[in-house]
Amino acid sequence: MTRPLVRFQLADRSEAPGRVEPILRSVPEWFGIEQATLSYVAAAGRLATWFAICDDQDAGFVTVQRHFDKAADLFCMAVHRRFHGMGVGTALVRHVEGVLREQGVEYLQVKTQGPSKPNAGYARTLHFYEKVGFVRLEEVTGLWPGIPCLILVKRL
Ligand SMILES: CC(C)(COP(=O)(O)OP(=O)(O)OC[C@H]1O[C@@H](n2cnc3c(N)ncnc32)[C@H](O)[C@@H]1OP(=O)(O)O)[C@@H](O)C(=O)NCCC(=O)NCCS
Repeated sequence: MTRPLVRFQLADRSEAPGRVEPILRSVPEWFGIEQATLSYVAAAGRLATWFAICDDQDAGFVTVQRHFDKAADLFCMAVHRRFHGMGVGTALVRHVEGVLREQGVEYLQVKTQGPSKPNAGYARTLHFYEKVGFVRLEEVTGLWPGIPCLILVKRL
């Protein structure tokens, strides 16, 4: 398959929520809880949000939260359904990792639905995170109502 040309952009915080929302709405199997989706949209207005852009269209995004100097969190990530499986998500993670490494970040975490609540879509998401180098750290309950949360980490 031909890989699309991807460029990366750190969004202006005032524009990021409006650009994130249509991407989240394109994948309702993952972002179908309205209140949670709106909180991810709002988070793009306060956190650093990187976009992957293909043919001048927003193909995917990741919001990055910095907890401490040496640790960061891929707080929310999605690729628009039209661009799934074309290498956009991998390219975006690699790009953001490079930026964070240059800023002195040594550890990255990401959270996703844990495998104790089987779900075909999230199984693919987990496969993606492991493929880009994350390692399962712990599954916790109580963080998200009714949904087990798997924490994955990666050393940059
Ligand atoms: C998970 C996601 C970010 C991956 O981005 P992507 O651009 O589709 O992935 P890439 O093309 O870079 O990587 C492809 C790999 O990811 C896997 N993958 C995971 N989810 C996928 C999906 N929904 N569609 C296609 N491939 C997917 C593929 O199987 C492939 O691995 P393989 O070559 O071993 O089969 C994206 O598919 C997505 O937004 N999914 C829905 C929302 C989501 O899961 N967000 C994270 C919530 S915690």
